Amino acid sequence: MAQQTPELAIDARGLVKVFGDNRAVDGIDLHVPAGSIYGVLGPNGAGKTTTINMLATLLRPDEGTATIFGHSVEKEPQIVRQLIGVTGQYASVDEALSATENLIIFSRLLGLNKAAAKQKAAELLEEFGLTEAAKRPLAKFSGGMRRRLDLAASLIAQPPLLFLDEPTTGLDPRTRAQMWLTIRRLVDTGSTVLLTTQYLDEADQLADRIAVIDKGKVVAEGTPDELKKSVGTAALQVRIQNDLQLPQAQQIVEAHLGVKATCSPMTGSLSAPMGNADKVTDVLVALRNAGIHLSEMSVQKPTLDEVFLTLTGHDTKEKDADDE
Ligand SMILES: Nc1ncnc2c1ncn2[C@@H]1O[C@H](COP(=O)(O)OP(=O)(O)O)[C@@H](O)[C@H]1O
Ligand SMILES: [Mg+2]
Repeated sequence: MAQQTPELAIDARGLVKVFGDNRAVDGIDLHVPAGSIYGVLGPNGAGKTTTINMLATLLRPDEGTATIFGHSVEKEPQIVRQLIGVTGQYASVDEALSATENLIIFSRLLGLNKAAAKQKAAELLEEFGLTEAAKRPLAKFSGGMRRRLDLAASLIAQPPLLFLDEPTTGLDPRTRAQMWLTIRRLVDTGSTVLLTTQYLDEADQLADRIAVIDKGKVVAEGTPDELKKSVGTAALQVRIQNDLQLPQAQQIVEAHLGVKATCSPMTGSLSAPMGNADKVTDVLVALRNAGIHLSEMSVQKPTLDEVFLTLTGHDTKEKDADDE
């Protein structure tokens, strides 16, 4: 018996999708309040796109139920489709046409008359900073411009719920920041956004709540602050003068703090969550006793990277060989 809560934009329970013997989505629950930005955070292959596809009626769940604003994705897919917009990981617009032409076509398809379509296209191009490139064929667009146009196209219908699948993957920092602003503005005007990301800082910056998923399962859920608190109040970061001592430094840090540390060999640094900032003294003394010299040291609030490591035992960059 599904209990429907009208103020939930998404209410998913026990979603499962199996491909062959791969449980790509393995019992996912999501409760997304209307009017919020909800982040689904996980590494490549975690099951993010598959989850979105089930919620967006593009893929049938093998098990579980989901409602969008109270409407079942299985029993009322045509109603659900009117309530949602989906932007893919890759822009899906016509290459040979200009940005303006693409947006006008989308608008006309959604039933706007010629004048309204033209106006809508101009408004969106302005909003997304694409006015100057409006007449250029898409083949000449950069990746970031395409992504923005793709998002613009999905906004023509102004759906109450928008799925953004890795909207900023591969974008340069400036374009990313622009996308973030646009996404925030969308929610300010009443939309609900479910966004997937591999970027911990993106979820941290944008999302009101986050579900961390790994191998088809939700491994943690909460506000960014709750997730950070769950792994301790502070994070130790040190940079080692001699890179070769990094493994040894890692051992010492892990032994003293009783947690896993994240190493960045590129920068010769490592970081680790701490339940108690006081312990930092012991770690520093142990490092010095081992003849390991530091070039930098800081104690900060933990990042979501550390959260992820603590929750899953591996970092977000790790490429797991799928055991299919
Ligand atoms: N159509 C499909 N057929 C077979 N396997 C798939 C299909 N789509 C996704 N998968 C597998 O399901 C798992 C989750 O994929 P996906 O949902 O795309 O992850 P994410 O979006 O988090 O990167 C991966 O192991 C992927 O290889
Ligand atoms: Mg994906």
